[in-house]
Amino acid sequence: MADNIRVVHRTVESNKRIYLCPPHLDGRERDLLMQAYDSNWITTLGPHVDGFEREICEKVGVKQAAALASGTAALHLALILLGVEAGDEVLCSDLTFAASANAITYLRATPVFVDSDRATWNMDPELLARELECCAQKGCLPKAAIVVDIYGQCANYDPIVKICGKYQIPIIEDAAEALGATYQGTFAGKFGVMGIFSFNGNKIITTSGGGMLVSDNEEDITRARFLSQQARDPAPHYEHSEIGYNYRMSNLLAAVGRAQLERLDEKVEKKRAINKFYRNALGNLPGIEFMPEAPYGKSNCWLTVILVSPEKFGADRETVRLVLEAENIESRPIWKPMHLQPVFKRCKIVGGTVSEDLFARGLCLPSGTQMTEEDLERVTKVIRNCCKPSQCFI
Ligand SMILES: Cc1ncc(COP(=O)(O)O)c(C=O)c1O
Repeated sequence: MADNIRVVHRTVESNKRIYLCPPHLDGRERDLLMQAYDSNWITTLGPHVDGFEREICEKVGVKQAAALASGTAALHLALILLGVEAGDEVLCSDLTFAASANAITYLRATPVFVDSDRATWNMDPELLARELECCAQKGCLPKAAIVVDIYGQCANYDPIVKICGKYQIPIIEDAAEALGATYQGTFAGKFGVMGIFSFNGNKIITTSGGGMLVSDNEEDITRARFLSQQARDPAPHYEHSEIGYNYRMSNLLAAVGRAQLERLDEKVEKKRAINKFYRNALGNLPGIEFMPEAPYGKSNCWLTVILVSPEKFGADRETVRLVLEAENIESRPIWKPMHLQPVFKRCKIVGGTVSEDLFARGLCLPSGTQMTEEDLERVTKVIRNCCKPSQCFI
């Protein structure tokens, strides 16, 4: 009887769901949350909000930060601070999550998407240069550029900053996925006039939902805080001379964020170890390629992403995803490029073939920092089994 129970238990355990990238709490969050609770600072003011902003500044090496309700809110405020208005054009990486582009449309401005390069999967500096040259000739330059650090890898900022500088286009660095990544030794978030992070539940650190706007410009961040709290003028009553937003982070959530941030370095190393495991286990399969890590920096490997070439591998990306799903393992196609999204179908795309190809073949593998070696073995075994036997040499 006891043996039977053990067997059943083992079967359930061995088939436990492996999620793509679930939040990872380890206990310290509870301590800081309870501190916030006990202090009664539970709204959008409090020592944890101040502390979280200060600690992000120290980690990233920026002067100022505003803790907000989401990364999307941070993008929206960044665009407002840059004076983006209805009718303006804003350049945006094509391969990204919709939030990057949505924020542009909140201001009735128009996104212009720029394709990825193959070496980094981030905004292609050559296409960017070509587009800006073309805009300059026509005398209608975009108002700003949102450059995304996709899947935790920084874009190639030397050329991008140079090109944008030539035409005085301010960059907003969308580092939602890239906290802790570096480019030539400098942390993600520092490469634009403003940078943003997300602390959504699937990000490398989470506050359940939240974001941060960072900048070296104190005036901008002070104004972002003002706008994020309904633009309340200094007065004993509620006085408003402009439109504001309810975008501030609560002290409770900032407490969770501080506990998470303490372990950021550890989380980056764990994500990189997961990436290395996958590379070792799958890298020699025919038709499998990994997202390249550019030599200029260190990715935080937020998600490990593979490309599946069906003619060599013997199965396509979707088949692999469905087989993983049948084994109770979550994986996901890579971001569908913005120019292929129905909602953005009328927007201009510069290039587009690279992101289309990446989307057709790309699959994000489970990359949660609590994954065990057993979990990783389980995932890689399923993927290896999808490979056509005649072409699989391991
Ligand atoms: C690239 C990118 N930009 C922006 C966001 C938006 O962040 P949030 O979900 O915190 O609003 C996300 C993720 O959610 C993202 O992946």
